[in-house]
Amino acid sequence: MTAVWSVDRKKFIDNAKQVKANQNLMAVVKNNAYNYGLEFSVKAFQEAGINTFSTTSLKEAVRIRKIAPEATIFLMNAVYDFETVRENEIHMTLPSLAYYYEHKEDLEGVHVHLEFENLLHRSGLRSLDEFKEVLKDHEQNKSDKKMIISGIWTHFGYADEFDVPEYEIEKEAWLNIVHSLLEEGYKFELIHAQNSAAFYRENQQLLPEHTHGRVGIALYGSRPYSKLSEKQIQQSLTVKGNVIQVRDVQKGEYCGYSFAYEVEQNHTKLAVVDVGYGDGVLRTRAKHEATINGKRYPIKALMMSHMFVAVDDSVTAEDEVILYNEDMRIDEYTFKGVGANSEQLSALNHDSLIKEIR
Ligand SMILES: Cc1ncc(COP(=O)(O)O)c(C=O)c1O
Repeated sequence: MTAVWSVDRKKFIDNAKQVKANQNLMAVVKNNAYNYGLEFSVKAFQEAGINTFSTTSLKEAVRIRKIAPEATIFLMNAVYDFETVRENEIHMTLPSLAYYYEHKEDLEGVHVHLEFENLLHRSGLRSLDEFKEVLKDHEQNKSDKKMIISGIWTHFGYADEFDVPEYEIEKEAWLNIVHSLLEEGYKFELIHAQNSAAFYRENQQLLPEHTHGRVGIALYGSRPYSKLSEKQIQQSLTVKGNVIQVRDVQKGEYCGYSFAYEVEQNHTKLAVVDVGYGDGVLRTRAKHEATINGKRYPIKALMMSHMFVAVDDSVTAEDEVILYNEDMRIDEYTFKGVGANSEQLSALNHDSLIKEIR
């Protein structure tokens, strides 16, 4: 008996199609495709009709090129290994004016997307004037060692926030840049800004003039915000362990390390389960329940390779213990404060869990 991480491949692809809703999407496959596996995800997204991918790591971008020779690949972090970027025909962000002036020759033949820093302030040009400065300098540059300006993009840092006006502010600032540049006659092959939340906030439509949504978490089956119904985004992932044994513990006894759980009643049945934080279950997740034989029971303590679940007489050794599945979704716990969807996904340990694609 070993705990299992498994994905229903058909369901994963069906969800990607439902999320895509016939729009052009750039699938965000960073961090090993949100820990679903780069190769699995890229191929599954291709089956769902997506052939544009983005990541933050050059190493992953090169791997994507091998998996998907014809795909458009966008690297969201600027790097300095220009040769590898060029050889693999990877599109890359232009992260600042200073980077442009320092590396405009190194970028010969590289497709760049000019980035707007917007309210996130993580990377990018600071203003419309900086966009125009790069575009004009590029136009006037008669050198044959030139980059290729293929796109413009930004990232909304507040798309997941509903109680503050920042999303509308950053959206307006960005649309102003897009419209101003297009009005001046500049043309871009790719224009992209929306993450999952921003895509759903526009009812799965692209913002005006945009060519792609740059979507991650929804493609992996989690809702970016709780106002969306579960039907709109389907989880194909199951994480489950097994009951190793059920122990009878008495009032006042402490179970687990360092007084983790004090038993409140005599003859409490405690299932010892073969999954723990070493497998990537977040500590905050252990404040909630696990499902055994279709019923939810409270988790009482989390250890590295085990957890205790308070059960009733119907639970016996070898019963399956569900931590996540279509009825016990990662996003349900995100909305209960366990941590971001991607935080739980990233933590799951594929070296200790058995990995199954069904
Ligand atoms: C720049 C950028 N674009 C898009 C995404 C995708 O966001 P989400 O997973 O919320 O769709 C991310 C994720 O962090 C990101 O950093």
